[in-house]
Amino acid sequence: MDRKQSHIDLALQQSVVTSAFDGIQLQHCALPDFNFSAIDLTSQFLNFQLAAPIMISSMTGGTAESTRINQHLAEAARECGIAIAVGSQRISQDGINNYGLDRQLRQWAGNSPIFGNVGLANLIQWNDAGCLNDLAARIDADAMIIHLNPMQEIFQDTGDINWAGSVDCLARSIEHCQLPVIIKEVGMGLSATVIQQCIEAGAAAVDIAGSGGTQFIAIEGAMSQQPIRQRAAQTFAGWGASTPQLLQQAQPATLSIPVIASGGIRNGLDIAKCISLGASLTAIAGVILPAARNSTSDCIAVIEQLKFELAIACWGTGCQNPSLLPSKYQAHPS
Ligand SMILES: Cc1cc2nc3c(=O)[nH]c(=O)nc-3n(C[C@H](O)[C@H](O)[C@H](O)COP(=O)(O)O)c2cc1C
Repeated sequence: MDRKQSHIDLALQQSVVTSAFDGIQLQHCALPDFNFSAIDLTSQFLNFQLAAPIMISSMTGGTAESTRINQHLAEAARECGIAIAVGSQRISQDGINNYGLDRQLRQWAGNSPIFGNVGLANLIQWNDAGCLNDLAARIDADAMIIHLNPMQEIFQDTGDINWAGSVDCLARSIEHCQLPVIIKEVGMGLSATVIQQCIEAGAAAVDIAGSGGTQFIAIEGAMSQQPIRQRAAQTFAGWGASTPQLLQQAQPATLSIPVIASGGIRNGLDIAKCISLGASLTAIAGVILPAARNSTSDCIAVIEQLKFELAIACWGTGCQNPSLLPSKYQAHPS
């Protein structure tokens, strides 16, 4: 079975038991001085206007099922006014196939921002400075995402483990890209040091993609045919820092570029907590994947639930707009 399909199947079997988001508390306000209906979730991220500070994170493309999944996600993004990212476009660049990774995506997504995606490991191998522009053109993308996933690759039987020259390749790829470039992890997180390196390389934004949600080490361990790798995957289960912890380390308000928070977001309250910790935008993957398999309307229901809960968090903290949430963070009492 192909790798991207196995990722979908195995990700759907994972569940979040405890969450670092539960250690974060927002300040309750018993005296909101506005009408709940006046809460305004609209947000700006880079040059994009969004109906809420939410995007659908990179997941799929290239498998037979991907056309349907990306159609559901893109149509839901259009209906809900949020951004959508596709999964790695490597498979279409390698000429294997294009399912869900062609210009049909623009028809489904309408005016919603579309973000393309590729791994830095692939960029190192291809050594083709212009390829981000080609990938963007294939799906009419508004920005490109490069994912960093060394701890995913090492658990693949034939993963890309030669990352020599990665820092230079990152800077060169960004320099030649005509669109803004966002750097993300895949669920193990970007440390404050790596975020600084991304800023120096010219990134327009970073997506922290911390641990606490989809666990790629476990997924790759389950897919491996090699006992040595399967056992190592158990040893390293839970590797990486949680999204709230990384946000606290990164101090987004002090950075020159916006920070997207993702990794383990379960609901609209988690989204509010990410924004209270300085994130400009949040991204969801695992929480919308079951709906993405079913229908556009199921995806819309998930996003509407997130938006409603984010609005309630604004109401409960006395904020008419999520951008006011950063003053409402309080450490959980011990
Ligand atoms: C089925 C699946 C496939 C994924 N494929 C990609 C990918 O191709 N590129 C990428 O950057 N991230 C990929 N991710 C990682 C997500 O974008 C996200 O960073 C990670 O799942 C953490 O978010 P979550 O906890 O909300 O799932 C994938 C996630 C899932 C669930």
